[in-house]
Amino acid sequence: MPSLLEPFRPLNDPIKDWANRTVWLVGGSEGIGLALGQELLARGARLVVSARRADRLSEAFPQAEVCKLACDIAQPESLGSACAYLDRAGLVPDVVFWVAGVYSPMQSWNFDPNEAEKTLRINLLSCYYGLHQVLKLWQDNPSPSRQPHWVWVSSVAGYRGLPLAMAYGAGKAALNQLAEINYLELRPRGIGVSLVLPGFVKTRLTAQNDFAMPALLSPEDAARYTLKGLAKGDFEIHYPRRFTLILKLLRCLPYGLYFRLVGRLRQG
Ligand SMILES: NC(=O)c1ccc[n+]([C@@H]2O[C@H](COP(=O)([O-])OP(=O)(O)OC[C@H]3O[C@@H](n4cnc5c(N)ncnc54)[C@H](OP(=O)(O)O)[C@@H]3O)[C@@H](O)[C@H]2O)c1
Repeated sequence: MPSLLEPFRPLNDPIKDWANRTVWLVGGSEGIGLALGQELLARGARLVVSARRADRLSEAFPQAEVCKLACDIAQPESLGSACAYLDRAGLVPDVVFWVAGVYSPMQSWNFDPNEAEKTLRINLLSCYYGLHQVLKLWQDNPSPSRQPHWVWVSSVAGYRGLPLAMAYGAGKAALNQLAEINYLELRPRGIGVSLVLPGFVKTRLTAQNDFAMPALLSPEDAARYTLKGLAKGDFEIHYPRRFTLILKLLRCLPYGLYFRLVGRLRQG
Protein backbone atom coordinates (compact mmCIF):
# COMPACT_ATOMS: atom_id res chain seq x y z
CA MET A 1 0.00 0.00 0.00
CA PRO A 2 1.47 3.43 -0.88
CA SER A 3 2.56 5.39 2.19
CA LEU A 4 0.97 8.74 3.09
CA LEU A 5 4.43 10.28 2.70
CA GLU A 6 4.70 9.10 -0.91
CA PRO A 7 3.89 12.53 -2.48
CA PHE A 8 6.69 14.13 -0.42
CA ARG A 9 9.43 11.67 -1.35
CA PRO A 10 12.08 13.01 -3.76
CA LEU A 11 11.11 12.28 -7.34
CA ASN A 12 14.68 11.34 -8.25
CA ASP A 13 17.58 9.74 -6.45
CA PRO A 14 19.36 12.72 -4.85
CA ILE A 15 22.76 13.42 -6.43
CA LYS A 16 24.97 14.73 -3.65
CA ASP A 17 28.32 13.26 -4.50
CA TRP A 18 29.85 14.12 -7.89
CA ALA A 19 33.21 12.44 -7.36
CA ASN A 20 33.98 10.11 -10.24
CA ARG A 21 30.64 10.61 -11.95
CA THR A 22 31.06 11.11 -15.68
CA VAL A 23 29.11 14.20 -16.72
CA TRP A 24 28.42 15.34 -20.27
CA LEU A 25 27.72 19.05 -20.24
CA VAL A 26 26.20 20.16 -23.52
CA GLY A 27 26.49 23.94 -23.93
CA GLY A 28 29.35 24.36 -21.48
CA SER A 29 31.44 27.07 -23.09
CA GLU A 30 29.52 30.10 -21.81
CA GLY A 31 27.11 31.34 -19.20
CA ILE A 32 25.21 28.88 -17.04
CA GLY A 33 26.87 25.84 -18.63
CA LEU A 34 30.37 27.19 -18.03
CA ALA A 35 29.58 27.95 -14.37
CA LEU A 36 28.04 24.49 -13.94
CA GLY A 37 31.13 22.89 -15.43
CA GLN A 38 33.48 24.77 -13.09
CA GLU A 39 31.36 23.83 -10.07
CA LEU A 40 31.12 20.17 -11.10
CA LEU A 41 34.86 20.04 -11.65
CA ALA A 42 35.45 21.47 -8.19
CA ARG A 43 33.16 18.75 -6.81
CA GLY A 44 35.21 15.98 -8.44
CA ALA A 45 33.14 15.09 -11.52
CA ARG A 46 34.78 13.62 -14.62
CA LEU A 47 33.78 16.23 -17.16
CA VAL A 48 33.09 16.19 -20.89
CA VAL A 49 32.07 19.62 -22.22
CA SER A 50 30.52 20.36 -25.58
CA ALA A 51 29.61 23.44 -27.59
CA ARG A 52 30.12 24.45 -31.22
CA ARG A 53 33.38 26.43 -30.79
CA ALA A 54 36.36 24.20 -29.97
CA ASP A 55 38.66 27.18 -29.30
CA ARG A 56 36.20 28.65 -26.81
CA LEU A 57 35.92 25.29 -25.00
CA SER A 58 39.71 25.13 -24.56
CA GLU A 59 39.73 28.70 -23.30
CA ALA A 60 36.87 28.06 -20.84
CA PHE A 61 38.33 24.75 -19.56
CA PRO A 62 42.14 24.84 -19.74
CA GLN A 63 42.28 21.89 -17.30
CA ALA A 64 43.85 18.88 -19.05
CA GLU A 65 41.51 16.43 -17.32
CA VAL A 66 38.43 17.98 -18.98
CA CYS A 67 37.45 16.34 -22.27
CA LYS A 68 36.52 19.03 -24.80
CA LEU A 69 34.21 17.63 -27.43
CA ALA A 70 33.06 20.22 -29.96
CA CYS A 71 29.74 19.48 -31.63
CA ASP A 72 26.73 21.23 -33.08
CA ILE A 73 23.60 19.83 -31.49
CA ALA A 74 21.46 21.19 -34.32
CA GLN A 75 23.15 18.64 -36.62
CA PRO A 76 22.20 15.01 -35.84
CA GLU A 77 25.41 13.75 -37.59
CA SER A 78 27.57 15.96 -35.39
CA LEU A 79 25.81 14.66 -32.28
CA GLY A 80 26.16 11.10 -33.59
CA SER A 81 29.93 11.54 -33.95
CA ALA A 82 30.17 13.01 -30.46
CA CYS A 83 28.28 10.06 -28.95
CA ALA A 84 30.40 7.56 -30.91
CA TYR A 85 33.48 9.26 -29.42
CA LEU A 86 32.07 9.02 -25.87
CA ASP A 87 31.51 5.30 -26.45
CA ARG A 88 35.01 4.67 -27.87
CA ALA A 89 36.72 6.73 -25.18
CA GLY A 90 34.93 4.97 -22.30
CA LEU A 91 33.17 8.21 -21.40
CA VAL A 92 29.55 7.08 -21.45
CA PRO A 93 28.02 9.70 -19.17
CA ASP A 94 26.28 9.01 -15.87
CA VAL A 95 24.64 12.43 -16.00
CA VAL A 96 23.83 14.60 -19.02
CA PHE A 97 23.21 18.33 -18.63
CA TRP A 98 21.45 19.63 -21.76
CA VAL A 99 22.10 23.34 -21.31
CA ALA A 100 22.73 24.69 -24.82
CA GLY A 101 20.22 27.19 -26.09
CA VAL A 102 19.86 30.37 -28.10
CA TYR A 103 17.50 33.33 -27.90
CA SER A 104 16.57 36.03 -30.34
CA PRO A 105 13.72 38.38 -29.53
CA MET A 106 10.87 37.83 -32.00
CA GLN A 107 7.46 39.40 -32.35
CA SER A 108 4.35 37.97 -34.00
CA TRP A 109 3.99 40.86 -36.43
CA ASN A 110 7.63 41.03 -37.47
CA PHE A 111 9.77 37.91 -37.51
CA ASP A 112 12.09 35.91 -39.69
CA PRO A 113 10.81 32.32 -40.08
CA ASN A 114 14.38 31.10 -40.76
CA GLU A 115 15.49 32.51 -37.42
CA ALA A 116 12.49 30.85 -35.74
CA GLU A 117 13.45 27.53 -37.33
CA LYS A 118 17.06 27.92 -36.18
CA THR A 119 15.94 28.61 -32.61
CA LEU A 120 13.60 25.64 -32.53
CA ARG A 121 16.21 23.36 -34.08
CA ILE A 122 18.74 24.20 -31.36
CA ASN A 123 16.37 24.61 -28.40
CA LEU A 124 13.90 21.82 -29.13
CA LEU A 125 14.66 19.43 -31.99
CA SER A 126 18.21 18.87 -30.80
CA CYS A 127 16.74 17.56 -27.55
CA TYR A 128 15.19 14.67 -29.45
CA TYR A 129 18.41 13.98 -31.37
CA GLY A 130 20.50 14.06 -28.18
CA LEU A 131 18.18 12.00 -26.01
CA HIS A 132 17.85 9.36 -28.72
CA GLN A 133 21.63 9.01 -29.08
CA VAL A 134 22.37 8.88 -25.36
CA LEU A 135 19.59 6.40 -24.55
CA LYS A 136 21.16 4.12 -27.15
CA LEU A 137 24.56 4.58 -25.45
CA TRP A 138 23.01 3.69 -22.08
CA GLN A 139 21.27 0.65 -23.56
CA ASP A 140 24.43 -0.61 -25.26
CA ASN A 141 26.61 -0.02 -22.17
CA PRO A 142 24.62 -1.23 -19.17
CA SER A 143 26.49 -0.72 -15.91
CA PRO A 144 25.37 -1.71 -12.42
CA SER A 145 27.29 1.25 -10.95
CA ARG A 146 25.72 3.83 -13.25
CA GLN A 147 22.56 5.66 -12.21
CA PRO A 148 21.74 7.55 -15.37
CA HIS A 149 20.28 11.00 -14.98
CA TRP A 150 19.17 13.51 -17.61
CA VAL A 151 18.95 17.24 -16.84
CA TRP A 152 17.04 19.52 -19.22
CA VAL A 153 17.78 23.22 -18.84
CA SER A 154 14.62 24.98 -19.95
CA SER A 155 13.26 28.38 -18.84
CA VAL A 156 10.39 29.97 -16.94
CA ALA A 157 9.66 31.56 -20.35
CA GLY A 158 8.02 28.23 -21.12
CA TYR A 159 5.43 28.55 -18.35
CA ARG A 160 3.12 30.84 -20.35
CA GLY A 161 3.16 33.03 -23.46
CA LEU A 162 5.31 36.15 -23.05
CA PRO A 163 5.99 38.98 -25.52
CA LEU A 164 9.15 38.71 -27.66
CA ALA A 165 9.46 34.97 -26.98
CA MET A 166 7.70 33.74 -30.10
CA ALA A 167 10.18 30.97 -30.92
CA TYR A 168 12.10 30.84 -27.62
CA GLY A 169 9.04 30.60 -25.33
CA ALA A 170 7.21 28.13 -27.57
CA GLY A 171 10.31 25.90 -27.70
CA LYS A 172 10.80 26.01 -23.94
CA ALA A 173 7.09 25.27 -23.30
CA ALA A 174 7.45 22.18 -25.47
CA LEU A 175 10.67 21.23 -23.66
CA ASN A 176 8.88 21.49 -20.29
CA GLN A 177 6.30 19.03 -21.49
CA LEU A 178 8.93 16.78 -23.05
CA ALA A 179 10.67 16.61 -19.65
CA GLU A 180 7.43 15.60 -17.91
CA ILE A 181 6.84 12.84 -20.47
CA ASN A 182 10.45 11.68 -20.12
CA TYR A 183 10.08 11.52 -16.33
CA LEU A 184 6.91 9.43 -16.57
CA GLU A 185 8.45 7.03 -19.08
CA LEU A 186 12.14 6.87 -18.11
CA ARG A 187 11.97 6.96 -14.31
CA PRO A 188 10.33 3.49 -14.15
CA ARG A 189 13.33 2.31 -16.20
CA GLY A 190 15.78 3.62 -13.62
CA ILE A 191 16.69 6.86 -15.41
CA GLY A 192 16.32 10.07 -13.43
CA VAL A 193 15.02 13.21 -15.17
CA SER A 194 15.14 16.81 -13.95
CA LEU A 195 13.84 20.03 -15.44
CA VAL A 196 15.71 23.23 -14.62
CA LEU A 197 13.84 26.53 -14.99
CA PRO A 198 16.02 29.57 -14.36
CA GLY A 199 14.68 33.10 -14.14
CA PHE A 200 16.98 35.85 -15.50
CA VAL A 201 20.70 35.01 -15.43
CA LYS A 202 23.41 37.46 -16.50
CA THR A 203 24.91 35.85 -19.62
CA ARG A 204 25.46 36.78 -23.26
CA LEU A 205 21.95 35.44 -23.93
CA THR A 206 20.28 38.08 -21.72
CA ALA A 207 22.82 40.80 -22.67
CA GLN A 208 20.54 41.58 -25.63
CA ASN A 209 17.58 42.45 -23.37
CA ASP A 210 16.96 46.20 -23.25
CA PHE A 211 14.61 46.05 -20.24
CA ALA A 212 15.23 45.77 -16.50
CA MET A 213 15.48 42.10 -15.56
CA PRO A 214 14.07 41.40 -12.09
CA ALA A 215 15.99 39.18 -9.66
CA LEU A 216 18.93 38.81 -12.08
CA LEU A 217 21.32 36.03 -10.97
CA SER A 218 24.97 35.37 -11.71
CA PRO A 219 25.71 32.16 -13.68
CA GLU A 220 27.57 30.87 -10.61
CA ASP A 221 24.44 31.25 -8.46
CA ALA A 222 22.39 29.54 -11.18
CA ALA A 223 24.87 26.63 -11.15
CA ARG A 224 24.68 26.32 -7.35
CA TYR A 225 20.85 26.40 -7.33
CA THR A 226 20.81 23.71 -10.03
CA LEU A 227 23.13 21.39 -8.09
CA LYS A 228 21.20 22.06 -4.87
CA GLY A 229 17.98 20.91 -6.59
CA LEU A 230 19.70 17.75 -7.86
CA ALA A 231 21.03 17.08 -4.35
CA LYS A 232 17.42 17.14 -3.10
CA GLY A 233 16.27 14.80 -5.86
CA ASP A 234 13.93 17.41 -7.34
CA PHE A 235 12.29 16.99 -10.71
CA GLU A 236 11.50 20.69 -11.13
CA ILE A 237 14.33 23.03 -10.16
CA HIS A 238 13.26 26.66 -10.50
CA TYR A 239 15.06 29.74 -9.25
CA PRO A 240 15.28 32.35 -7.84
CA ARG A 241 12.06 31.60 -6.00
CA ARG A 242 11.33 35.28 -5.27
CA PHE A 243 10.78 35.61 -9.02
CA THR A 244 9.72 32.15 -10.20
CA LEU A 245 6.96 31.79 -7.58
CA ILE A 246 5.28 34.91 -9.00
CA LEU A 247 5.47 33.42 -12.49
CA LYS A 248 4.01 30.17 -11.18
CA LEU A 249 1.12 32.17 -9.72
CA LEU A 250 0.56 33.96 -13.05
CA ARG A 251 0.40 30.53 -14.63
CA CYS A 252 -2.79 29.76 -12.69
CA LEU A 253 -4.64 32.93 -13.77
CA PRO A 254 -7.49 32.75 -16.30
CA TYR A 255 -6.60 34.26 -19.68
CA GLY A 256 -8.79 37.34 -19.06
CA LEU A 257 -6.61 38.32 -16.12
CA TYR A 258 -3.29 37.03 -17.43
CA PHE A 259 -3.39 38.88 -20.77
CA ARG A 260 -4.46 42.18 -19.14
CA LEU A 261 -1.80 41.97 -16.46
CA VAL A 262 1.08 41.06 -18.79
CA GLY A 263 -0.11 43.66 -21.33
CA ARG A 264 -0.09 46.33 -18.63
CA LEU A 265 3.36 45.31 -17.33
CA ARG A 266 4.68 45.56 -20.86
CA GLN A 267 3.32 49.08 -21.35
CA GLY A 268 4.50 50.22 -17.92
N1 LIG B 1 20.41 33.47 -19.22
C1 LIG B 1 19.18 33.37 -18.79
O1 LIG B 1 18.61 34.32 -18.21
C2 LIG B 1 18.40 32.10 -18.96
C3 LIG B 1 17.16 32.02 -18.34
C4 LIG B 1 16.42 30.86 -18.47
C5 LIG B 1 16.93 29.80 -19.20
N2 LIG B 1 18.13 29.90 -19.80
C6 LIG B 1 18.60 28.75 -20.57
O2 LIG B 1 19.85 28.34 -20.09
C7 LIG B 1 20.63 27.78 -21.15
C8 LIG B 1 22.00 28.46 -21.19
O3 LIG B 1 21.79 29.83 -21.42
P1 LIG B 1 22.93 30.92 -21.19
O4 LIG B 1 22.24 32.13 -20.78
O5 LIG B 1 24.01 30.34 -20.36
O6 LIG B 1 23.41 31.11 -22.71
P2 LIG B 1 24.86 31.37 -23.33
O7 LIG B 1 25.72 32.08 -22.36
O8 LIG B 1 24.61 31.99 -24.66
O9 LIG B 1 25.43 29.89 -23.53
C9 LIG B 1 24.83 29.02 -24.44
C10 LIG B 1 25.71 27.80 -24.61
O10 LIG B 1 25.11 26.94 -25.58
C11 LIG B 1 26.07 26.60 -26.60
N3 LIG B 1 25.35 26.37 -27.85
C12 LIG B 1 24.49 27.20 -28.49
N4 LIG B 1 24.06 26.64 -29.63
C13 LIG B 1 24.67 25.42 -29.72
C14 LIG B 1 24.65 24.38 -30.69
N5 LIG B 1 23.93 24.46 -31.82
N6 LIG B 1 25.38 23.27 -30.46
C15 LIG B 1 26.14 23.17 -29.33
N7 LIG B 1 26.21 24.13 -28.38
C16 LIG B 1 25.48 25.24 -28.59
C17 LIG B 1 27.00 27.85 -26.63
O11 LIG B 1 28.28 27.59 -27.16
P3 LIG B 1 28.67 27.84 -28.72
O12 LIG B 1 28.14 29.19 -29.07
O13 LIG B 1 30.16 27.73 -28.79
O14 LIG B 1 28.01 26.75 -29.47
C18 LIG B 1 27.10 28.13 -25.14
O15 LIG B 1 28.04 27.29 -24.54
C19 LIG B 1 19.81 27.96 -22.42
O16 LIG B 1 19.11 26.78 -22.71
C20 LIG B 1 18.83 29.06 -22.05
O17 LIG B 1 17.64 28.99 -22.78
C21 LIG B 1 18.90 31.03 -19.71
